[in-house]
Amino acid sequence: MKSLVESQMVIIFGATGDLTRRKLIPSLYHLERKKLLTRCTPIVCLGRQDYSREEFLQSLDINGSVDNLNSQVWQSLAERIEYHRMDLESVLADDFQSCIAGIRQRYACAGNSLVYLALPTRVFQGTARLLSTLQEQTGWLRVVFEKPFGEDARSAAELNASIRSVLDEEQIFRVDHYLGKELVQNILTLRFANTLFASAWDSKSIDHVQITVSETLGVEKRAGYYDRSGAVRDMVQNHLLQLLAFVAMETPKSPNPESLRDEAVNVIRQLEPVAREDVVLGQYLEGEVDGDRVSGYCQEPGVAADSTTETYVAFRALIDTERWRGVPFYLRTGKRLGRRFAEIRLVLRQSADTAAIFGPVAANTIIIRIQPDEGIALAFNVRSPGESGRTESVLMDFCHHCHFGPNTPEAYEAILRNVMLGERNIFPRWDWIEASWHYIDHLRAVAARPVGYAAGSSGPLEADTLQAGNHHVWHEGVTRQILPLPFHHVRRSD
Ligand SMILES: NC(=O)c1ccc[n+]([C@@H]2O[C@H](COP(=O)([O-])OP(=O)(O)OC[C@H]3O[C@@H](n4cnc5c(N)ncnc54)[C@H](OP(=O)(O)O)[C@@H]3O)[C@@H](O)[C@H]2O)c1
Repeated sequence: MKSLVESQMVIIFGATGDLTRRKLIPSLYHLERKKLLTRCTPIVCLGRQDYSREEFLQSLDINGSVDNLNSQVWQSLAERIEYHRMDLESVLADDFQSCIAGIRQRYACAGNSLVYLALPTRVFQGTARLLSTLQEQTGWLRVVFEKPFGEDARSAAELNASIRSVLDEEQIFRVDHYLGKELVQNILTLRFANTLFASAWDSKSIDHVQITVSETLGVEKRAGYYDRSGAVRDMVQNHLLQLLAFVAMETPKSPNPESLRDEAVNVIRQLEPVAREDVVLGQYLEGEVDGDRVSGYCQEPGVAADSTTETYVAFRALIDTERWRGVPFYLRTGKRLGRRFAEIRLVLRQSADTAAIFGPVAANTIIIRIQPDEGIALAFNVRSPGESGRTESVLMDFCHHCHFGPNTPEAYEAILRNVMLGERNIFPRWDWIEASWHYIDHLRAVAARPVGYAAGSSGPLEADTLQAGNHHVWHEGVTRQILPLPFHHVRRSD
């Protein structure tokens, strides 16, 4: 991996939005703090609001988004932040070009540009004519597209064609910020740098896999977007399928990022189409979350009283490859659930010999905690002391921040740094996204209408029908029968 970040102009479209304020500027601050940005890195922020530079800096509320702000570091970054008013609907390409050329001249820096589209996806296409003007500069151009990339296979293909008309594939970075998370990047290290895990990572050893992203938040201020999107398109097409790709991919043939992306695409392409009985959609009803009474989805401001948008989805995926044939992957995600956590569990098979000697024992399980309390745990059986000599499941638990300290880079810091370095590993390629959309379009077409679940619960009871055999996949109470100990870490910082 390269480590030297070159001089470059960072251009942020949508600079007055939530993503810029909460994620991009704080991530740039952390890169500055780590001295990873050169002095020749102007940050050009573009937005529709009529702000002066000072008003814009105020609006970023940096104290609110960075803990223990070092004012010297912030000062040094802020000096390089510019704000320019620009409405994508009306700005002329020539005006944009001369604005950028003027800034470049003032800084007298190399001609590299990182453009971040922190915009609603519907306006991505409108940026194409502006981006084409940057092709004329010397140096490289890298353009970051936020998720979601399209709304279905057709719109994603149209969007892709439109941006490919002005950008080469190597210039395009499609973001799924989950792939920037430390523990997600660790999946490949865990799998491919450890004989112990590598040898257990297939249908001979793994009984089933659970991938869960559980949120306590509702739609907050995103009702307009969310009601058109729903959980399947908002969370599964990108985050959950990307996690699945990392867990299930074959060993990349080389360290070249394209090899890794080839293997990820292969996983998605080998997913069997989901059957109607393998998907459960849900929508939250009123209930209690973290001790607070909360309203149902259809009573949220901005949501139609008869909305049928799903806020929860659980489904069973099968991958038709030598390695995974017959192993169910249970994926679920939802809003307004009882706990906030994201994790992957690989539950191992038990041999007949084990049962013959010890009777029923808990399954060995590999747990990758993506958030909170990032870490990796392994549940295995030991003999408890004393006369009874019972077999008991215990956890060997690697806590990421206990070992590496609390300063793990945020996902967006990793994303920005990787784009700056031109590293592509954590950015889905077009064929990866295209394959995901085809899978998702089919899933949405076959799924039944959402059923209700109480806010603060662990989702609709109907999701239990997805359980294979006696796995007791979903419900925490029952899951504890498989693993008596594992939840204390998750709970601690909930
Ligand atoms: N926020 C997050 O945590 C998050 C997480 C993952 C992905 N994303 C993705 O990141 C993108 C931005 O999200 P966000 O939450 O920052 O949205 P947001 O708060 O609604 O901000 C959108 C930004 O785009 C600007 N904009 C909209 N239409 C425009 C136009 N025609 N011309 C110029 N500027 C325009 C808005 O300007 P005004 O201020 O003038 O309206 C605003 O600066 C979206 O694609 C979203 O899906 C966000």
